[in-house]
Amino acid sequence: MSDLVRNYIGGQWVEARSGETFDSINPATEEVIAPIAKSGAEDVQAAVEAAKHAYKNWRLLPAPRRGEILFRVAQLLTERKEQLAQLLTMEMGKVIAEARGDVQEAIDMAFFMGGEGRRLHGYTAPVELPNKFGMAIRDSVGVVALITPWNFPIAIPSWKSLPALVAGNTVVFKPASDTPKLGAEFVRIFAEAGIPDGVFNVVLGPGGTVGNAIADHPDVRVISFTGSTEVGYEMYARAAKKGKKVSLELGGKNAIIVMDDANLDLAVEAILWSAFGTTGQRCTATSRIIVQNGIRPKLVEALVERAKALKLGYGIDPDVQVGPLINERARQTVAEYVEIGKGEGARMLTGGEIAGHGCGGVGYFYQPTLFDNVRADMRIAQEEIFGPVLSIIEVKTLEEAVEVNNNVKYGLSSSIFTENVNAAFHAIRDLTTGIVYINHGTIGAEIQFPFGGTRGTGNGMREAGQTALDTFTEWKSVYIDYSGRLQRAQIDTDSILGDA
Ligand code: UN1
Repeated sequence: MSDLVRNYIGGQWVEARSGETFDSINPATEEVIAPIAKSGAEDVQAAVEAAKHAYKNWRLLPAPRRGEILFRVAQLLTERKEQLAQLLTMEMGKVIAEARGDVQEAIDMAFFMGGEGRRLHGYTAPVELPNKFGMAIRDSVGVVALITPWNFPIAIPSWKSLPALVAGNTVVFKPASDTPKLGAEFVRIFAEAGIPDGVFNVVLGPGGTVGNAIADHPDVRVISFTGSTEVGYEMYARAAKKGKKVSLELGGKNAIIVMDDANLDLAVEAILWSAFGTTGQRCTATSRIIVQNGIRPKLVEALVERAKALKLGYGIDPDVQVGPLINERARQTVAEYVEIGKGEGARMLTGGEIAGHGCGGVGYFYQPTLFDNVRADMRIAQEEIFGPVLSIIEVKTLEEAVEVNNNVKYGLSSSIFTENVNAAFHAIRDLTTGIVYINHGTIGAEIQFPFGGTRGTGNGMREAGQTALDTFTEWKSVYIDYSGRLQRAQIDTDSILGDA
């Protein structure tokens, strides 16, 4: 067990004001990784104050200089990729190849947002009066708060912090209480890259207390939250009372449509990766297969065979394909949904049991589970399970497939396997999710495109790409009148013909 992991506030590593701690646990071995500062409202208060103070200078540092710090962050993340990936597998449980991918996503984002230091584009437009100029520029907002989940403990904090910082904001960051050490290590990299004191603060601890203190604090103007729909909506309502801007990235119930003309082998590979990669714990994970009746028997047969062969275990071993769930509570939720599925009359093809593949029978493992004969309105086909449970729904036509895909309360990612270009374009037009894949599973978004979803997946905001800047900036419209006289917009426009 390592040393106490502390908050980082105003450039100092400090204990929680209460002196309390909690433990971070390795979900594959159930060993304690480290004791963690258990923060409360008074720690949030200190972090917001530090961020508010630091904002005065940070907003004035030219954006290209801020971008250069981000490039150093990218460099340090690259140098420490392996070390961070190992810690990521230890604290979060995803297999080592995926842990490297998680860090890589942050490296990509750091380079991308470092470049924004020399863009942060606004625009000019013609104005209606002579000797006058107009432009719209992006302005920083002030103190922003980032609340992130445990499933991408490096990538998701990077999606939020890098655009926030390059735009000139200062940050209070609360990582998930299941992956606090990674949150602290992430911030340490910024400190080493030369981020000024108070610009990036981390407050570790339980979601309820720390999250509510953030939502209530009058000096936090923006909250970017990724997590469950339930908690996200609560935070949204709470923050609305203070008029804050909130960006929500919530649940998913993503589907892969497999048409009769699909490349079967490719579809099978993609389904296994999207459904059981990260043990199904991605908001983009595939949890429904919507399959056309002709190809269904072959697809089901191949999926059962391959799902049974997946190797579970501690993801530090490079041969392991599926790691544990994040904690015992998550495993119980999965087990409960499996019972619900059975009760609803779905046919279990494989899995459906707690698995003892961890070191010495410990760890929060659950077998990859496949349900067939699932009706689109069953709870296992409607609700987010966030685990390795896949439901197969049969349809006859593309129209029916699209309807089943769209008819859930979430709208993050969807996918279709077909060799027919017309079918593909119909799907692109008609699938009502924020992300659509053709001949690829539902996971694996790249950072240069907007990330997010429709309906219960969010509140219309998007992360990543340049779109991310919309969350972390305000528009400022600027009019410069160099005529030397009063020119009234909308009124004096008729009298100026030939006057310019
Ligand atoms: C998430 O699960 O919250 O597209 C994020 C993907 C990853 C990010 C997932 N790049 O699956």
